[in-house]
Amino acid sequence: MREMWSAAVVLALATAGLTGASEPACSVGIQSQDGAVCCPDSCGDCGSAEIQCGTLPGGYDQCCTEGVLAQSRPCSQFEPPCSLDTAAVKALPEEEPVPAQSSSLAMVLSDPTADQATRRLGGGDKFCVTGALLDVAKESNAVCANAKCKIAGTAQCDEDPLGASQCCPRTIKDKNRTCDKYPPPCVMNPERFIITAPVKSIKRPTTIGILPGPSMSLQQREKTYGVQFDSILMYTDVQGLNFMKQVKPYLDQGMKVQMVVELGDTYANIIAGKYDYWMQKFGETAARDGREVTLRMLHEFNGSWYKWCVFTPGTDNNMQLFKQAYKYVVTFMRKTKGNFKFQLSYAMRNGETPDGGRYTTPAKDFYTGLAPYVDEVCVSAYNLCGANDYTGSNASLEQILAPWYNQVRTFAPDKNICVAEMGSTGKCKGKAKWITQAWSALETKFTKISTFNWFLEDKPQLGRDWDLSSRSEIEAFHNGFRQFKKATAAPNAKPQRSRRKRTERRAPRKKVQKKGRRKRRSGRRKKRGGRARNVTV
Ligand SMILES: *[C@@H]1O[C@H](CO)[C@@H](O)[C@H](O)[C@H]1NC(C)=O
Ligand SMILES: *[C@@H]1O[C@H](CO)[C@@H](O)[C@H](O)[C@H]1NC(C)=O
Ligand SMILES: *[C@@H]1O[C@H](CO)[C@@H](O)[C@H](O)[C@H]1NC(C)=O
Repeated sequence: MREMWSAAVVLALATAGLTGASEPACSVGIQSQDGAVCCPDSCGDCGSAEIQCGTLPGGYDQCCTEGVLAQSRPCSQFEPPCSLDTAAVKALPEEEPVPAQSSSLAMVLSDPTADQATRRLGGGDKFCVTGALLDVAKESNAVCANAKCKIAGTAQCDEDPLGASQCCPRTIKDKNRTCDKYPPPCVMNPERFIITAPVKSIKRPTTIGILPGPSMSLQQREKTYGVQFDSILMYTDVQGLNFMKQVKPYLDQGMKVQMVVELGDTYANIIAGKYDYWMQKFGETAARDGREVTLRMLHEFNGSWYKWCVFTPGTDNNMQLFKQAYKYVVTFMRKTKGNFKFQLSYAMRNGETPDGGRYTTPAKDFYTGLAPYVDEVCVSAYNLCGANDYTGSNASLEQILAPWYNQVRTFAPDKNICVAEMGSTGKCKGKAKWITQAWSALETKFTKISTFNWFLEDKPQLGRDWDLSSRSEIEAFHNGFRQFKKATAAPNAKPQRSRRKRTERRAPRKKVQKKGRRKRRSGRRKKRGGRARNVTV
């Protein structure tokens, strides 16, 4: 609704612009101090983070120089917000063109009025890209409700303004209209919860990452499992970012680094520039180094538990501010000239509404407009069976991941996909089997996944035992890892980190004194080329 309305306004403004109501000198708006843009009067001020432009009425898109420039609205053609300097407009990244696609649904998704368009086309929405996916835990029962229902799926769903036929799973099931043919509300075909194609191994580069957790170091884990990870996953408060200490040692070892940067605040404060200082410092050091680092900022944004989530109670956060904040941090980090890649990382579970329901915003809606700011679209994917706060079913990685994966393939077909964090509890037994099945699904089915990360840190207070704890689990992990690499590595793939290989070959079963080992290694490394002088892992 809202999107349609604003599209209409933009259209109206554009028409007005073309008929002469243009604003070349910012006489009816407020000019930013740098002279780059003209903000509407309603902003009250105009320009940079210093004046907290993102928090002014109208927000980032209307009142901040960056936000206005990003829209490429020259004042010669548009009313404020508009840009006065056409050279600057050209320099900004353009929204990506929508790639040509075979599916009519995918085509209409580029249209803000997509659900209307889907209906017009008379097509189905087989992956529920435009609706609210409910009752996913039992895939034979899943329905796709109208995304505009406020209390879909709750016991009170029939009191929703849109009515039971749009919002209540049981009523929707009774109607039995399949999503393969109909738009929401409709019943999901259980086959949409598995990956039906291509179902074979494909040679492709994949980054296998690990969050080692505090109980074992990366080296210990690699030795115990007999494998070499490609990437390390780290979590840091923005104030604690330290390129030399945290990132460089791993890059020196030939590993990739995925850094989850936690900006512990609301969107408004992030946009207002409260964390610019630390981001700048990190960015500048990374730029001097020049090697690639992957950043994940505002992760699990579609939950309700961090201050930077869209649905977190007690904040002014909302979808629009989320997009402004996400664009803000990416644009900011790019400007530092660091060699960064950016992950847009979803939460697996819906945020809960204050009355115990689930938010029903389609995954697609969070992505709309962000394509130019995203290198990988990610999600966290856990089997939470038996965890303290979870009553859902025992699900394989494929069952957990497939609905989301299918949707992303539809609304972001040109993007790489990543599993931000993954793992299974051991509470429902069969964890070794879960691990084996997960590796196999990643090898043969999720062929668009470019990065996945095993999260191996236990969270005992929540009953989440993610770590590998038995011989059978470790064996399953080792075998799965080896098989995955064997099946997917291209023949001319880059050799693995050489230092690791060496360690592995001579890996003794008995414990080696950590300190002594490290010393020996770095000594050897120095002789080989002196590239990794200051390793202090
Ligand atoms: C629902 O429709 C499908 C065909 O689309 C049919 O096979 C199935 O038996 C129907 N289920 C019920 C409960 O009517
Ligand atoms: C967040 O995204 C995931 C993956 O698409 C989805 O399962 C979940 O429902 C979303 N959460 C919200 C609150 O929309
Ligand atoms: C959970 O799933 C695993 C395999 O994915 C299976 O081996 C195990 O038996 C299941 N546990 C229950 C309680 O169904």
